[in-house]
Amino acid sequence: MFKKQHFFFFLVILFLIVGFRILHKKTVLLDEVDVNELPVELVLENLKGQKYSHKIEKIDLDKVEIGRQIIFDGKAKKGKRISPFFVCTDCHNTVKETELLKETSPEKRLEYAQKNNLPFLQGSTFWGIYNRTSFYNDDYIKKYKDIIKNAKDSLSNAIQVCGKYCSSGRYLNTWELEAVLHYFKKNELKIKDLSLDKKEYKNILYWQKLDSDEKKALVNKIESAYSTAFPATFLPTMPREQRKYGEGGNVKNGEFIYEKSCMYCHENKRVTFLSLSKDRLSAKMFVKHLKDYSDLNLYQIIRWGTYAKAGRKQYMPHYTKEKMSDQQIEDLVAYIKTLAKKSK
Ligand code: HEC
Ligand code: HEC
Repeated sequence: MFKKQHFFFFLVILFLIVGFRILHKKTVLLDEVDVNELPVELVLENLKGQKYSHKIEKIDLDKVEIGRQIIFDGKAKKGKRISPFFVCTDCHNTVKETELLKETSPEKRLEYAQKNNLPFLQGSTFWGIYNRTSFYNDDYIKKYKDIIKNAKDSLSNAIQVCGKYCSSGRYLNTWELEAVLHYFKKNELKIKDLSLDKKEYKNILYWQKLDSDEKKALVNKIESAYSTAFPATFLPTMPREQRKYGEGGNVKNGEFIYEKSCMYCHENKRVTFLSLSKDRLSAKMFVKHLKDYSDLNLYQIIRWGTYAKAGRKQYMPHYTKEKMSDQQIEDLVAYIKTLAKKSK
């Protein structure tokens, strides 16, 4: 009898110890959460009670690798090419493109590209695309019309449009599409990418204690710290009388644009029939056409690009106002003029 009581007492103590340890562990875990590393997706899902339509529930690294091959090499080992002409990275970077994510102006983008030696391209970066909710925004409706109707708010459909139309290729198979989405998930935004302040970090950690207004305010803070949609404004060819013909242009910026934009595709005719290099010939051709309204005119080719023709399905995507400013075109013209004058 005495022994039994003893045993009972012992059990109670054991229960208390185990229970306390579990509880304690829980609180410790909460403190140990590294807010920096939290996916933006998860935080927004908690706050809004809503999931992305393209949500990847569990990332699969094999699929990430297949997605990487499709994006960089144009096809996965076991598959066929998406496009005979292009790979996705001809027009899109896959890394961060501006120091602060909310600063997406062409000036900030050029500055960051120069610092990090990145290509300066017509498409938006794939980095963080997983966290966007609207695609082919604003003026893209003028170019693609009905084609993008179902792609405006669907990342999967946006990928399909680009596989078939931007790349002059084909729609992706289900497994290819899934792999690309897994690659995008791998390159999603984390809280550390958003430059939030201490108060917001605390709110993110204790989100369950926030009332609905506080939650809304936090969602706003988070969503305005990066771009959920990239604006796109089409500009016409600059009229002759407004052109400065490079006067006062920044030659160094122009040289960078020539190298990391134009030559990125045109060097040794990589994706086109037109070969561009840093020799006088290319430069003189452009100088000769500076007053035109034609495909060889810099002011025009940049704003209009080219269109696919029979027998030449590769076309040049144009640069929106957000991807190249008028001043940057003048910088390029200033450089081209310097290059044309070089003695060798
Ligand atoms: C020839 C150039 C080109 C190629 C090749 C290309 N794209 Fe694009 N893509 C664009 C342009 C230009 C846009 C316009 C919108 C933007 O990115 O800002 C775009 C937009 C997108 C968008 C919507 C982005 C947004 O934020 O609105 C997705 C998604 C996309 N492309 C995926 C792909 C994938 C995947 C591939 C490869 C299979 C690919 N693209 C190949 C030029 C290209
Ligand atoms: C994403 C790749 C890409 C980039 C970046 C690019 N181009 Fe192009 N460009 C093309 C393609 C593709 C064509 C279509 C020409 C063809 O069929 O060979 C083209 C066509 C042209 C043409 C017309 C050629 C003709 O014979 O009509 C000019 C001029 C030109 N590009 C200049 C430029 C300049 C200047 C830049 C930089 C501001 C630039 N390109 C950036 C891919 C690109």
